[in-house]
Amino acid sequence: MAEQVLLGVSGSIAAYKACELCRLLVKAGIDVQVIMTSHATELVGPSTFRSLSGNAVALDLFDDPSAPIHHIELAKAASVFVIAPATANIVNKLAAGVADDLLTTTALAFTGRLVVAPAANTQMYLDDTTQESIRTLEARGATILSPDIGALACGDKGPGRLPEPQVIADAVLQALKRSKALAGRHIVITAGPTREDFDPVRFVSNHSTGRMGYALARAALQMGAEVTLISGPVNLPAPVNDHLAFVPVVSAREMCEAVLHAAQSADVVLSAAAVADFRPQMTSDTKLKKYALSELSELEEGETVISVKLVQNPDIITQLSEARQAGSLKPDLVLVGFAAETNDIDSNAREKLVRKGLDLIVANDVSREDIGFASVDNEVLVISPESDTPIAKASKFEVAWRLLELVSDRLRRSDVD
Ligand code: CTP
Repeated sequence: MAEQVLLGVSGSIAAYKACELCRLLVKAGIDVQVIMTSHATELVGPSTFRSLSGNAVALDLFDDPSAPIHHIELAKAASVFVIAPATANIVNKLAAGVADDLLTTTALAFTGRLVVAPAANTQMYLDDTTQESIRTLEARGATILSPDIGALACGDKGPGRLPEPQVIADAVLQALKRSKALAGRHIVITAGPTREDFDPVRFVSNHSTGRMGYALARAALQMGAEVTLISGPVNLPAPVNDHLAFVPVVSAREMCEAVLHAAQSADVVLSAAAVADFRPQMTSDTKLKKYALSELSELEEGETVISVKLVQNPDIITQLSEARQAGSLKPDLVLVGFAAETNDIDSNAREKLVRKGLDLIVANDVSREDIGFASVDNEVLVISPESDTPIAKASKFEVAWRLLELVSDRLRRSDVD
């Protein structure tokens, strides 16, 4: 069966170029389902797209009486949704989650790869709101194709021209290729910090937000994998997907148990969690009172000092590599660690790769504000015993896709061996 792509066409003068894009995609063997906004129909007739795609063109939320929830069916049928041209209005609506017509409602319901090709007057494109919307969409995992620079229909010169249809078609084909790269694979991902409680109100933890692990989970789903996401406490919504098992945990020991269980059937484990290395030796089910701790305290230079004892937590990924070596996991299981470092990044990461018996380690510099724990972007060096591959600064989603492509290449190579 041919693969389905949704092609959203909005009301830019460049809408005519979407006809050529539609033709190129059909020529590449893709089943194209076109959705037009009402403004787009003022510029190009739906019958043109119907002839080119061989499918009825979707125009309105209520235009198919046989499919009362048309937008959900459209959103589920395709793994890639390309919006070309996307007017500044559509870009801003997508970023804000406005769903007031069939195109934007379908986009809100869509969980696959969104490819957006903006086309607008230069000022409208460069407007702060539009630029912020573009960054928002990128941070959420959309691929934004930069518009070409040149003469525009309004007479202005600058960025705003829709890229050539072939460029957009190539981006769609690339997104489709990615959408199958991990089909049939089970990927286990850990994310976020772990939290080690002293008592019901106090704990030891770290700054991890879970963004990288959650981006990896979404990217792996979009690449066709079955995903188990094991997450420490984070402020991110739990993803919902038929192909995802979500396992919330709190402590390192809970995470360890969940990972060892899920890894039984895993092809890949991506250990993106910032596991707390130590936990309090003594914990209490009730809130510890200050005065109860005072007998443990000493006075140093006029200040009360309390010493607490911490116990080392299990090293989860080392346990996995030992289990693999002992033959209790798939022998070709790919183990990927993450090294969040502040100094001597490469050498620290390389040492961890060897010490923990990993196949790949993803090194990043968390001391940099632009790519650290809470930032939207990341930039990493992927180190394996054989070679190093830099992934240039990009959104955490883009970095996730590139990393998963490296993992998928590795899986393919081990299938051949
Ligand atoms: N890791 C793990 N279990 C632990 C600690 C870390 O599985 N108890 C994993 C992390 O998920 C990560 C990799 O090991 O993939 C490296 O984590 P990091 O905290 O950088 O390593 P540590 O061994 O804790 O080294 P450091 O002394 O730098 O804290």
